[in-house]
Amino acid sequence: MASISEKMVEALNRQINAEIYSAYLYLSMAAYFESVGLKGFANWMRVQWQEELAHAMKIYDYVAERGGRVRLYAIEEPPSEWNSPLDAFEHVYQHEVKVTGMINELAELAISEKDYATYNMLQWFIAEQVEEEASASEIVEKLRLIGSDGRGLLMMDSELGQRQFTPPQEETK
Ligand code: FEO
Repeated sequence: MASISEKMVEALNRQINAEIYSAYLYLSMAAYFESVGLKGFANWMRVQWQEELAHAMKIYDYVAERGGRVRLYAIEEPPSEWNSPLDAFEHVYQHEVKVTGMINELAELAISEKDYATYNMLQWFIAEQVEEEASASEIVEKLRLIGSDGRGLLMMDSELGQRQFTPPQEETK
């Protein structure tokens, strides 16, 4: 039997959809970076795609554990072109700010439903969003400094090429 309200389940299912959309958006950015020959930037986006899928699965597993019914909705088509690496990363930053807003709304709903287990699960996402915004913002700042300096961009490409995916359960909290 479900120990979680239908309203909460529906909102969490919407968030699963939003996390998969985020994955899709970043995979689309990976394809853009691939097309302009920036393989390190593409690698960063491919890792981000995996992270977003892991976010979706974290909520999926939680809903199932609480006896709720996971439902999957249509995934919106993401954009496929950006004007520059800076344009793409400004989009990442704005997107993450939007996701933070969604997580905050879920936390508010959990409180109003007196669903403290869901509120507790969402704490991980609240902390994660601080990191997500900070890492996007750091890259935006660097890209602004680099401007039109091709060498700086290539150095950054090699730096972002180092990023590796770490599944959430292996992260030290
Ligand atoms: Fe799932 Fe980028 O937050």
